[in-house]
Amino acid sequence: MVLVAPSLLAANFLRLEDECVMINESEADWLHLDVMDGLFVPNISFGLPVIEQVAKKTNKVCDVHLMIMEPERYTEAFHKAGADVLTVHIEACKHLHRNIQQIKSLGMKAGVAINPHSPINSLEDILGDIDLVLIMSVNPGFGAQTFIQHSLKKIEALRTLIDKNNLNVLIEVDGGVTLDNAKALVDAGVDILVAGNTVFKSQDPKATIRALKSFNRS
Ligand code: DX5
Ligand code: ZN
Repeated sequence: MVLVAPSLLAANFLRLEDECVMINESEADWLHLDVMDGLFVPNISFGLPVIEQVAKKTNKVCDVHLMIMEPERYTEAFHKAGADVLTVHIEACKHLHRNIQQIKSLGMKAGVAINPHSPINSLEDILGDIDLVLIMSVNPGFGAQTFIQHSLKKIEALRTLIDKNNLNVLIEVDGGVTLDNAKALVDAGVDILVAGNTVFKSQDPKATIRALKSFNRS
């Protein structure tokens, strides 16, 4: 069954505690937390103090997506703040392999995110060392953007690469995920759907999460 990771970026920040409780009561699997530094992406979101509080409140897996330059500077800090999964961008790391080892040595799952312009084959030599790939299906930095259709082809190519090499790597997709494209994403090979606006801006977020979870691979 597909995992669902609501992205807190689309939540009401004045009511973060209520939003965490709502997610706790839902069928969501992970809680996706977007960290932006204003350098790697043209936006700034939230950071360590917020994640520390959210991690205390949530009973879901804390899935931290770092959209920051040289993320290795903060691996330990995000671990202490409560990250269970730590994902860094291939475009933001000079020594990606070392950073992945650092993340895993602290007991977190290690993820690598790739931007829409980065080819799947750039992951070939790191795939055996990581727990998940985060396919960005919009240019990172903002919620509520339109899904880039080409991402579907990338997901299919990645699924083939993972299966061909018998690897245990999860595929997560992030950006513009809706109830309309979720089925195609699951069929293409996605294991985890990240959804910000689709969940938090819906009439009934818990029902939306349930609906996203109901898509099975045909
Ligand atoms: C974008 C972030 C996403 C964002 C997705 O840079 O990485 O996680 O919250 O938002 P939606 O689902 O609204 O496109
Ligand atoms: Zn994200």
